[in-house]
Amino acid sequence: MSMRGKTIVVGVSGGIAAYKACEAVRLLVQAGATVQVVLTRAAEEFVTPLTLQALSGRPVARRTFDLTEESEIGHIRIADTADALLIAPATANVIAKLATGIADDLLTTVVLATRAPVLVAPAMNVHMWENATVQANVARLRDAGHVVIEPASGALACGYEGAGRLPEPDVLVEEVAVAVTEKTLAGRRVLVTAGPTWEALDPVRHVANRSSGKMGFAVARAARRRGARVTLVTGPTALADLRGVECVHVTSAREMEKAALHHAAAADCVVMAAAVGDYRPLEAARHKIKRGRGDLEIRLTPNPDILAKIGALPGQRVIVGFAAETRDLVANARRKLQAKGVHLMVANDVTAPDAGFDVDTNIVTLIDRSGRVERFEKMSKDEVAGVILDRVRDLRTPRTTVRAAPRRLRRR
Ligand code: PMT
Repeated sequence: MSMRGKTIVVGVSGGIAAYKACEAVRLLVQAGATVQVVLTRAAEEFVTPLTLQALSGRPVARRTFDLTEESEIGHIRIADTADALLIAPATANVIAKLATGIADDLLTTVVLATRAPVLVAPAMNVHMWENATVQANVARLRDAGHVVIEPASGALACGYEGAGRLPEPDVLVEEVAVAVTEKTLAGRRVLVTAGPTWEALDPVRHVANRSSGKMGFAVARAARRRGARVTLVTGPTALADLRGVECVHVTSAREMEKAALHHAAAADCVVMAAAVGDYRPLEAARHKIKRGRGDLEIRLTPNPDILAKIGALPGQRVIVGFAAETRDLVANARRKLQAKGVHLMVANDVTAPDAGFDVDTNIVTLIDRSGRVERFEKMSKDEVAGVILDRVRDLRTPRTTVRAAPRRLRRR
């Protein structure tokens, strides 16, 4: 997800997990954010200002009264320019100060002064984390409207096992992305399908395709960031489940059909990015087919057309289909849009380099029921997901104002 134009304040307090804050800063900068680091005195026992200045590309703010280089008061400027404030790690001490409104250093002062979302990522020894006073302070932070990113469990630096680990940097960055994304799908239920289906040939072999799931996962991730309640029905992929998304794992097209129809009934929007196998072996052998001397002929029988079935369901929901084509992209996609009763078709030429299966980018053409055709240049699958969900928003709310075209949109 691009964070271009966003300013993220990263507060680091004095715990051994401060080393992970360095990676979180690097990832935020890589995503295009402007990152202002605020270090507590204790944090400097674990990481140096020079390291974080090098990673963020900006001087690290450390003392309230150091900030004399600008006219306005430094901690207020930091507080006002923030689009989100992440405190990682947040020690028990910092949590206690935040919970009681103490502002005796730069970080706690900025937290009190900012109107931006505040995300707190506690990290400490498991017994400290379980301490009733710490838990009471954490509850007060939640009551104050702050987002508390639950610690992970596992081996701790102090040699213990249990809750108290700072989550991995990519998890922290994802939660910041959620905090700074406009909630255009707040309260909506979105069903996304992703990945391939595997159609058994015998207990060892199956008929499949090259879908990695990346496109569907990007749509599910983007929908969650926009405030939707997301269910992701996915075929077998190498991708980890997404935070904050209900992931339903299936293998065959018929399993995907059952899960998708079940969840589609309550969905406000369905995005069918999965590469569903159109056919399956008429009979799956009970035992491994032994290698013979001659050809092996396999009869295939059609799988259910899930998208068409969803399109025929009663009720109002926005339905987005994908069209994997190798030629006549627009004509084939338009035919599928009309045949399957969907609102928007996302067509991609799966033979084009950097598009379609398994790559991190895609080149899509959107076709809607009005006949409008929008061709896009190569974008990341995260950016494609954003464009799709922008169109879903428009389909849900009739266009009353002309919205600025997203970057890279080129209409011919
Ligand atoms: O997963 P990635 O590696 O990121 O690759 C992304 C992708 C190429 C898989 C994706 O961009 C894509 O094109 N997905 C749709 C692939 C596909 O099955 O296209 P299709 O033209 O064969 O199917 C048209 C639509 O009907 C699709 O929405 C599909 O989900 C759906 N379908 C297809 C067959 C079937 N039996 N039931 C269906 O619902």
